[in-house]
Amino acid sequence: MTDIEIKKGLAGVTVDYTAVSKVNPETNSLLYRGYPVQELAATQPFEAVAYLLWYGELPTEDELAALVAEERANRTLDDNVRQAIDLIPLDAHPMDVIRTAVSLVGASDPAAYDNSRESDLVKSRRLFAKLPAMVAYDQRRRHGLGIVDPRDDLDYAQNFLWMTFGDVPDPVVACAFNVSMILYAEHSFNASTFTARVITSTMADLYSAVVGAIGALKGPLHGGANEAVMHIFDEIGTASNVGPWLDTALAEKRKIMGFGHRVYKRGDSRVPTMKVALDTLVEHYGARDLAALYDSLESEFVSRKGIYPNLDYPSGPSYNLMGFDTLTFTPIFVAARITGWTAHIVEQAASNALIRPLSAYNGPEERHINSYVPDT
Ligand code: ACO
Repeated sequence: MTDIEIKKGLAGVTVDYTAVSKVNPETNSLLYRGYPVQELAATQPFEAVAYLLWYGELPTEDELAALVAEERANRTLDDNVRQAIDLIPLDAHPMDVIRTAVSLVGASDPAAYDNSRESDLVKSRRLFAKLPAMVAYDQRRRHGLGIVDPRDDLDYAQNFLWMTFGDVPDPVVACAFNVSMILYAEHSFNASTFTARVITSTMADLYSAVVGAIGALKGPLHGGANEAVMHIFDEIGTASNVGPWLDTALAEKRKIMGFGHRVYKRGDSRVPTMKVALDTLVEHYGARDLAALYDSLESEFVSRKGIYPNLDYPSGPSYNLMGFDTLTFTPIFVAARITGWTAHIVEQAASNALIRPLSAYNGPEERHINSYVPDT
């Protein structure tokens, strides 16, 4: 056993190729199908980035129009999904609601077990269109509010906000939301995407892979961190309290949510773009106190530990300013990452090998049941 090198958490292990995205911690860059994510966020609607992740190229005008028309035609929450959501306790975590709703969509799809590329891309586009309605309705029902029907004249980002709040969003807000969706869309072999690829590698259906990925994303070390950032902000209260709060938190060896990353060790490539979006929201809502708390925690923590913010750090406060419940933050991440997950599911299925690593045994030596008499 001594000569076996264990790679705990698969840290540093390269398990396969991917053409979907490239994370480069050396240059602090992230490319989707070759395009820097910052350029995509500055120039593209989320719909075009979804197309890029699935098909490898940005859409032509006609291709984008077809995707947009399909997305708008599929935005409505199906009755059976709405009824199922209504059966879930109001205090259930919204990630459990989304996981259940996606599972029901899968169980109701007669083509669920058709694992062909074409069929999987149809399912991917359908989940992309349907997730905002699930997320929006769940937030509304927790406030005792009824469903808001989608609007065909609004783009993906505007309509998501419309279905959640019942108002057409200000362009500043819709733009920041669009940026966040693009930044959250894809990030190579992170824990949830890898989960989706493991499930796909068994030749299970796309919905099972997505439901598994939702479970993996939920944890606070992964997607659940955007929610956890806001809980930390609530605990700290004001910028002047950051120092004493951090003294206690670090003495208790707490992880400070929204900081650190398995791959990036000198800052997350997505943070500067999301921070600019957050700044526009701070300006729009006049949220100086929140901005002061954000800056103070970042500079204190970075100077004490040398650990930098990840995407969840600016996105959590951004969603808070937009009016989303803290519990809704990670489901928004699902609605964005469905594009990356499904691009990876299609890629995994196209050149599949069952993912089945080895383990090194460190339990008891072989032993026997005293009363056991072997057959002769
Ligand atoms: N707060 C305090 N200490 C930290 C943090 C943090 N956020 N992140 C890392 N460290 C410390 C660890 O305690 C550890 O210290 P030690 O060597 O003294 O024991 C050291 O830095 C290395 O940390 P690991 O957890 O081993 O590093 P790993 O690469 O496994 O962790 C992770 C990455 C899980 C993201 C970690 O940084 C973390 O827990 N961050 C908080 C959760 C978070 O924000 N997750 C979001 C990830 S990005 C995303 O999903 C969009």
